[in-house]
Amino acid sequence: MKEGLIAVRPVQPVAPWLGGKRALARRIGERIAAIPHTRYVEPFVGMGGVFFRRPARPKLEVINDVNRDVVNLFRILQRHYQQLLDVLRFQLYSRADFERLRATPADQLTDLERAARFPYLQKAGFGGMGKTFGVSYDQPRWSLSKVEPLLEAVHERLEDVLIECLDFGECITRYDSRPGTLFYLDPPYWGHTDDYGKDIFSEADFERLRGLLDGLQGQFILSLNDRAEVRELFAGFAMEEVSLNYRASGKVTPARELIISGL
Ligand SMILES: C[S@@+](CC[C@H](N)C(=O)[O-])C[C@H]1O[C@@H](n2cnc3c(N)ncnc32)[C@H](O)[C@@H]1O
Repeated sequence: MKEGLIAVRPVQPVAPWLGGKRALARRIGERIAAIPHTRYVEPFVGMGGVFFRRPARPKLEVINDVNRDVVNLFRILQRHYQQLLDVLRFQLYSRADFERLRATPADQLTDLERAARFPYLQKAGFGGMGKTFGVSYDQPRWSLSKVEPLLEAVHERLEDVLIECLDFGECITRYDSRPGTLFYLDPPYWGHTDDYGKDIFSEADFERLRGLLDGLQGQFILSLNDRAEVRELFAGFAMEEVSLNYRASGKVTPARELIISGL
């Protein structure tokens, strides 16, 4: 292990998330572990498919996402874990309750209720964004006894992790104040910029990201889908092609991604 890193137990994300890095986490984790760093920052953390599976950490870790449901869940898991479990114990597993919760505006929920809703919709829902109630015929999609150990492990792993809710650009600028920072960047895929909501990421943001990476003091690893536009925009950096399978709704689709890093 690189000097200055502390061994930690890898843990699984608490819920599925569109673009979750399950298939690539090990390969990206190996590259992260090979780069000496004193700070680790994930500006697009989502459910933390890479963050939580790393076997080692530096002293300072920062996770960031612009999605308030994501960030609120991590904040509550960090500071109000027991109270979150209390709310989840009263969660009905039913289509009607799923639809009621999905239709409730976030500002009509307490932070605890909002945090409890998130893994429930993601798990009981279908297709990665918790939009439609899903039924599996062999086992329940929602089971607190199965989710609880995941929540507990993430709660423990989040101790001392700094949680931000910033636009990625502000996050990068703020934590790139000196060499030694390693950024792992997992933005929305090229051609799918609206997947996480309207007006939070656009094609122009890839150019903004490229500009920030050009002037970075720290190091970075960026993963994106393998598209001609991506190859062209990030042409000045090291690029490695990786093959993987996307799995969704029981279907397996072969795909290629690029792991891009500073030279
Ligand atoms: C591909 S997903 C990250 C998946 C993550 N690696 C995982 O394993 O779950 C991209 C994430 O970027 C976030 N995002 C989109 N636009 C953003 C922005 N402008 N600033 C910060 N985060 C943003 C989305 O909310 C989403 O969680």
